Amino acid sequence: MKIDKSSNTMLMFLAVLMVLITGFFAYEKAINNTVNTEFNTSFSLTGAKLSDKVYATVDKNSESYIGNTILTDYTFSVFNGGEENLTNWRVELAVPEGTSVANTLGIDYSADISDKILVFTPNYYVMTIPPGIVVDFDIVLKTTEPFDPDSLVFYGYLTHGMFEKTGVIFVILLIAWIVCFIGFLVTRFNLKNYKLKQKNDVKIILQSMNTFISFIDAKDPYTRGHSKRVAMYAAEIAKRMGLSEDEVQNIYYAGLLHDAGKISIPDAVLNKPGKLTDEERKLIQNHTVAGGKMLKQLSSLRGVRETALYHHERFDGKGYPEGLIGEAIPLYARIVGVADSYDAMSSNRVYRRHLNKDDIIEEIQQGSGTQFDPDIVKYMVDMINDGYVNVVKMETAEKEDEKSDFHITENDIPGVYMGM
Ligand SMILES: [Fe+2]
Repeated sequence: MKIDKSSNTMLMFLAVLMVLITGFFAYEKAINNTVNTEFNTSFSLTGAKLSDKVYATVDKNSESYIGNTILTDYTFSVFNGGEENLTNWRVELAVPEGTSVANTLGIDYSADISDKILVFTPNYYVMTIPPGIVVDFDIVLKTTEPFDPDSLVFYGYLTHGMFEKTGVIFVILLIAWIVCFIGFLVTRFNLKNYKLKQKNDVKIILQSMNTFISFIDAKDPYTRGHSKRVAMYAAEIAKRMGLSEDEVQNIYYAGLLHDAGKISIPDAVLNKPGKLTDEERKLIQNHTVAGGKMLKQLSSLRGVRETALYHHERFDGKGYPEGLIGEAIPLYARIVGVADSYDAMSSNRVYRRHLNKDDIIEEIQQGSGTQFDPDIVKYMVDMINDGYVNVVKMETAEKEDEKSDFHITENDIPGVYMGM
């Protein structure tokens, strides 16, 4: 998949946005999630509740008298039978005038009386009562008259905390997004490196290609631009046939180098205007074998060697050098063979002027199934009819005029630019 610069930035922006949104909700759910405040609905002997399952009660245990003073023992209980943490809680009880605290059993609570209200406040470490826990504490009050508690008030907060269900989902989502985001950054970094490396590879290939082309052009200046045009026609046929981008690129390289073996042909034979002798024809035909040998080392460019070797094979088996038949001829060579013939017919040569469009179409169609693969011919004819081949011809002619040193650039190679 191709990722260009703007979609890259858009993806990055979306990833950051998703992390921020999920992070915000996770924070809201996990940290700042207070769901209830206070209740003082009486029930039981005397009780008050925050929810049906979280409540406080007070029970009178025993009474003893010392003169006019009454000492009464009470048990306060706080139940957290819910599913949330109980935090910041306290219990308040209205007591008669003159009541004082005689004893608190245990040291975990503060018990203070002010304005006839007894206030129990837990010490810090029991401030939070987790779900399923019950806390009891006893107190002895000193009064001057018997006292039965009847108005307990219970304050507290029920908080979901970090592990409440939706909070957990948001935290998992947040982690997932962060992992995706990091993965995205790593992929982007790797992709950038890969593209840099690929660009460098293309540079090396280009330099090698241009060196080869300059050899071929120096040998046969009359067909200058031929290799490049054949490469472009062949790549276009491949594209129209639905071959992959890599294949299209390889066919382009194969087209550029298909005549590399011409270097081996003596100048006098290659540029001879008159009729060739059998010996000379053999020398010319040998450029296929010579090209195959020369390009043997270029195995990293798939199909390039085979194309140089087999681009003069014919579909009916009457070609050279091996007389391969039909699909035994490699696909690249069959494609380049058609493109090569088209360019030969549409260019002036030492021995003749180019043919006109209708004659070329007729010649190519006549060769369908004999010289050429019929499946490929139809694409070539389409390209002639829709004018693609003329555009290529004009472009290469302009390039030749612009520069005395005619060579291909990165822009010429199909599929090289991928929006870095
Ligand atoms: Fe050739």
